[in-house]
Amino acid sequence: MTLMAGKNGLVTASGGGIGRASALAFAREGARVLVSDIDDDASRETVDMIRSAGGTAEYLAGDAAEESSAIALVDRVVELWGRLDFAHNNAGIGSPTKPVSEQEGSDWERAFRINLFGMMYAMKHQIRRFKEQKTPGAIVNTASIAAVSANAGLSPYNSSKWGVLGLTQTAATENAADGIRINAIMPGATLTAAIEKWAAEVPDQYAGVLDGIPMKRMGTPDEQANAAVWLCSEQASYITGVALPVDGGLVLRR
Ligand SMILES: NC(=O)c1ccc[n+]([C@@H]2O[C@H](COP(=O)([O-])OP(=O)(O)OC[C@H]3O[C@@H](n4cnc5c(N)ncnc54)[C@H](O)[C@@H]3O)[C@@H](O)[C@H]2O)c1
Repeated sequence: MTLMAGKNGLVTASGGGIGRASALAFAREGARVLVSDIDDDASRETVDMIRSAGGTAEYLAGDAAEESSAIALVDRVVELWGRLDFAHNNAGIGSPTKPVSEQEGSDWERAFRINLFGMMYAMKHQIRRFKEQKTPGAIVNTASIAAVSANAGLSPYNSSKWGVLGLTQTAATENAADGIRINAIMPGATLTAAIEKWAAEVPDQYAGVLDGIPMKRMGTPDEQANAAVWLCSEQASYITGVALPVDGGLVLRR
């Protein structure tokens, strides 16, 4: 209940899935949270959920691909609560399944804009703010287990997520001396609403996926959120540049 007491921050793509669970978890641990997403209604629902549980949250619409949104989010946290302490850069999209020999540049551009450029813009302005404040903040980025493995047909997604690790670790190295910690979580298969729907539609495929996971189940958004909160908390004060698999052991099967 107090891992993040008195801290202020933001979570991108927090209208649903892992981002919503993260926003709720940061708030549960005492943080004030700026929720952001392209889906207004879903984001307002996240804010309502936090407030109903006694937490503090506000919402600012934002497309995580855009630098203007990265700037606006940092400015809004500072305007609301005076200081930025943490950020969970979580927005990410998949890509159509096609072999490299049939890939379209437009699918690559879309995946890289949101998954990698957006992450860079977010960190650029968050790190600037930490330095201006002269306070050592913490950032956690959502990568994926796809950042350390190969999934046939998903080259835009996989390549951009490999990039997220390179970006996270480079930024961690650049800012470690200032006490700014930058880490990533690497979710394995996680049971969000979209995946629940897919599982109901194709139960045989779902069972096949579960069979490939050493723990024989998918993770929950809460399990991803707990890892993100912990990495931003003082409990992880000597950890930076880490890419933490939260995957039921899936990475062991690489
Ligand atoms: N769910 C999984 O199994 C899984 C596995 C590995 C990694 N991930 C990563 O976790 C992160 C969250 O995934 P999820 O499954 O919870 O997502 P999701 O598909 O459930 O979407 C969550 C939210 O993202 C928002 N969103 C989409 N594009 C956006 C944009 N450009 N700007 C702001 N918000 C946007 C949506 O409106 C939605 O509310 C992504 O980076 C994803 O790559 C997910």
